[in-house]
Amino acid sequence: MCGIVGYIGNRLAVPVLIDGLKRLEYRGYDSAGIAILEGDKIEVIKTKGKVSDLANMVEKKKFMANLGIAHTRWATHGEPNSINAHPHSDCSGDIVLVHNGIIENYLSLKKYLEEKGHTFKSDTDTEVLTHLIEENMKDCKSDSFTDVLFQSLAEVQGTYGLAIINKNYPDSLFIARKGSPILIGKGKDEYIVASDVAAVLRYTREIIYLEDGEIAEINRDGYHVLNSVNDEVQKKVQQISWNLEMIEKNGYDHFMLKEIHEQKNSLENTIRGRLNYEEGTARLDGLIDYIDDLKNAPRIVITACGTSWHAALIGEYLIEEFAGIPVEVEYASEFRYRSPIINEGDIVFVISQSGETADTLGALREAKRKGAIVLGICNVVGSTIARETDAGVYIHAGPEIGVASTKAFTSQVMVLIMIALMLGRMKNLPLERGRNIVNALREIPKLVEDVLKNDRKIKELAKILSNHNNALYLGRGYNFPVALEGALKLKEISYIHAEGYPAAEMKHGPIALIDEHMPTIVIATKDAIYEKIVSNVQEVKARGGTVISIINREDTKIRELSDEVIEVPHTITPLTPIVNVIPLQLLAYYVAIERGCNVDQPRNLAKSVTVE
Ligand code: AGP
Ligand code: GLU
Repeated sequence: MCGIVGYIGNRLAVPVLIDGLKRLEYRGYDSAGIAILEGDKIEVIKTKGKVSDLANMVEKKKFMANLGIAHTRWATHGEPNSINAHPHSDCSGDIVLVHNGIIENYLSLKKYLEEKGHTFKSDTDTEVLTHLIEENMKDCKSDSFTDVLFQSLAEVQGTYGLAIINKNYPDSLFIARKGSPILIGKGKDEYIVASDVAAVLRYTREIIYLEDGEIAEINRDGYHVLNSVNDEVQKKVQQISWNLEMIEKNGYDHFMLKEIHEQKNSLENTIRGRLNYEEGTARLDGLIDYIDDLKNAPRIVITACGTSWHAALIGEYLIEEFAGIPVEVEYASEFRYRSPIINEGDIVFVISQSGETADTLGALREAKRKGAIVLGICNVVGSTIARETDAGVYIHAGPEIGVASTKAFTSQVMVLIMIALMLGRMKNLPLERGRNIVNALREIPKLVEDVLKNDRKIKELAKILSNHNNALYLGRGYNFPVALEGALKLKEISYIHAEGYPAAEMKHGPIALIDEHMPTIVIATKDAIYEKIVSNVQEVKARGGTVISIINREDTKIRELSDEVIEVPHTITPLTPIVNVIPLQLLAYYVAIERGCNVDQPRNLAKSVTVE
C-alpha cells in the first residue's frame, strides 16, 4: 500500500533509491528498506525507522551498485519492525523483492512451502512470494525468469505491485502488477521503476504504466513488457506534465478529497478474500481464536472515539440484527473512568483508525484489567492498540492522512458488517439472507463509485450551505449514526455548528431551532421506516425550514417535499450507511472549500489524539 522504487542504469543506485523513497514519504509508512546488487552479492538493509535513518545506514557503506530496489512499508500482515520491513529474500538470498498489496492465500502457500523445506524469517504475507519463486525455479524447464514469475504469480491470490532482483540475472530488474500500481520511468540508458510517479519525476517525465497481469523485464538498454498470456506488448510512453504537489495528492486538491475518492478501492481491500458466498458468511482470520467466545457472548461492548464511535453505533445495530447479541456502545473516554460493569471473559471491541488514541487505549487497558477479551478493529498495523488487544481485524483502508476520517469510517463499517454476518451465520441468520448480504457487500464498491461520480449537485448545495452558521442532520435506524457523522464532518472542517439527531427525536427539543436560517439535512433512503422519515420532513417544512434530502433515485415522495435532493443508489438497509455517508463527506468538504478553510489540517485538531 506504500512505496516501491527500483533502479537500473549507470549511475549509483543508492542515491536514486533513497531520493525516490523520500518523494514517497508523504504517503505515510512504518518502515523502509533497500536491496542492491553489490558485486555478486545482494545486500539488504532495512529499518523500522524513517527513510533518513535508512539513508544514514546505507550512505556509510559507500555502495557502488547500479541495480537495486527499495520500499516504504505500510504493514498489512505482521508488525512494523525491521524483520518484516521489505525487501524480502528467498532461502538462498538470491531472489529479493519488494511488494505493495496483500497476498490473500499466503497462509496456504506458506504451509505448502514450509512442507517443501523453506524457512521463513518474517510474519509478512509478502515473504511467501520469494520462496514460491525459488521453489518454482527448481522445476522450471525454461531459463527465462519471467516464465517463472508468470507461473508463480498464477498461484497467488490478492494484489501486488512488485519489483524483483535476482542475483542470477545481474543485468535485469523485474516488475509485476495486479491491483497495485507500478510504472517504469524511461531515462537515457537508465530506468527508474516506482509505485508512484513522484519517485521518478526528478529523472524523467516519460512514463510507461503497467496494467494488471503484466510483467516487465528491464535492462539498461531497454525493456520488455509481457501481458497476462506471456505475449510481448508494445506500451505507450506517456509524458507527465503534473508537478510534485499534484502527484502527491493524485491530482486532488487535498488529501481528504483524495481519500474520499479512494473509497471504492479501500472498500474492495477491506472485503478482499473475506467473503464466502457458498456459506453466506465472512471469514475473518484475526478472530479465529475467539470464535467460540464471540458466539457464546451474552453481550458485546464496543468502545471508541469520534468517527470510530459512530462506526461502533452502526456496529450495534448490525450485530443485534444479524446475530441477536446485545451490544452496548460507549465513548472510550467515558468507559475508562466510569467503572463499567465488565465480567471475566466479556467481549469488548475497540475501534480506532490510528490505533494510538489515548482514550481508546485507556478503555482497552481498563477492559483488560477487568478480565475482558479485548478485540481490535484498526487500520494501522502494529499500532499500540493493535498490539495490546488479544486479537482483531484490520480494515486495510490504506494510510489516511487528512485529519477528517473518511475512508477509515466506511471500512470500519464494512468490517463490522462482516463481523455481524459471521456471528449471525453461526447463530440464527438463514443461509439465503447471508448470501444476499454477501452479494450486496460485493456491490458496495461500485455503488460508492457511482455516488462519487455525481458530485456536481453536492458542489452546488455546498454553496448554499456555506452561508449558514448552523445545520441539523437527521437520520433514523442505521442512518442515525450517519447523521452524527455528517454533522461531525461539517463541524470539523468548515467550523459550521452542526448537530446530528435521530429524526424522531427532533420534536423533543431541536424543532424549536427550525426556521429559515436552519438548513436540515435528512438521510431518507428507502427502508422499513421510510414513511416515518416522510413525516419528519413534513414537520421541518411546516416550520419554514429548508430541507436537503439524501434519497434513492426512484424516490418521489421525499423528492417533492424537499427543497433540494442528493440521489444515491439503493442497497439493502444495513449497508446504507456506507453509501449514504459519501455525499455527506463531500458536502462537508465542498462547504469547507467555499469558506476557505484548511481542509487537511483543520484548526485545533490532530490526526491522532494521543493525549487525554
Ligand atoms: C474524525 O474525523 C476525527 N478526526 C476524530 O473524531 C477521530 O475519529 C477520533 O479521534 C478517533 O480516532 P481513531 O479512530 O484514530 O482512534
Ligand atoms: N502486505 C505487505 C506487508 O504487510 C505489503 C505492505 C505494503 O504494501 O506496504 O508487508
